[in-house]
Amino acid sequence: MSSELKVRWPNLKFDRENIIWDDMPEASIIWISGSSFPIVIEPWLNRVMVKSRKFVSKDRPDLRQDIDDFVRQESNHYRMHEEFNVHAREAGFVVPEDMQDAAHADYRNLLQNKSMNWLLAYCAGFENFTLFQARWLFETAPDFCREGDGISEVMMWHLAEEYEHRKVCHDIYANVCGNYFLRMWGLVYSFFHMNGHIQQRVKLFLDQYREGMTPAERKASIKREKAFNRRFMLWFLPRALKIMVPFYDPGKAKAHPRLQQALKKYDALAAETEALKAGAVPA
Ligand SMILES: [Fe+2]
Ligand SMILES: [Fe+2]
Repeated sequence: MSSELKVRWPNLKFDRENIIWDDMPEASIIWISGSSFPIVIEPWLNRVMVKSRKFVSKDRPDLRQDIDDFVRQESNHYRMHEEFNVHAREAGFVVPEDMQDAAHADYRNLLQNKSMNWLLAYCAGFENFTLFQARWLFETAPDFCREGDGISEVMMWHLAEEYEHRKVCHDIYANVCGNYFLRMWGLVYSFFHMNGHIQQRVKLFLDQYREGMTPAERKASIKREKAFNRRFMLWFLPRALKIMVPFYDPGKAKAHPRLQQALKKYDALAAETEALKAGAVPA
């Protein structure tokens, strides 16, 4: 049974000028920081998945179809982030070339030196994390779902689709390897490894944002940053224990009504893109 995920290019309409949220600047900057990372991680995930195709059982063409669909969905994600990142860079949020090059080199090194099973365990662990991010956003953080806001629109669409392909890497790992302990190692390793890269970017952009602040303003800003992180971790950590159950199946995660509604909205926006391409409606 294939994952039935849909590959969309929604006609997202968002404000590209005011990218910082007045009420929660640190939260929006953390998301903007994260937006510079899909161009590193997602082409890498795709390479691993394409490489894994020949290891998948001959009697599972559905899994090979899942890999193809997964690659197309993830490719759209990093392309859309890069469209947003142009505006982030214009607003001064620029990741230095050496930082981006080092991240690419780090992942390239893993691809060249780790076994297929290890790489798939990393992908499965990483995708477990993005599923929980999606669940967190749609189940508990509607205050971050802001219609018309650049980073919020991109993240809502991206995470809704992360929910859709939530089981692909897990299923490929189960088919190719399935070892429980390696899956656990991939989960823990990917969480800290990927967060190491993202936190570098968060620090860079938040330090930049805080330049010129008074000590009191800086203290208040750090407090808001911690509150944002605490809010996610307090929700995520107890639930993450579920991932550690030997027969954990991400495919069983239910979509919150807000997530279902979002996917419908992106279906409609993707149809709009198609109509625009066909010249059926004015741009
Ligand atoms: Fe993605
Ligand atoms: Fe993903």
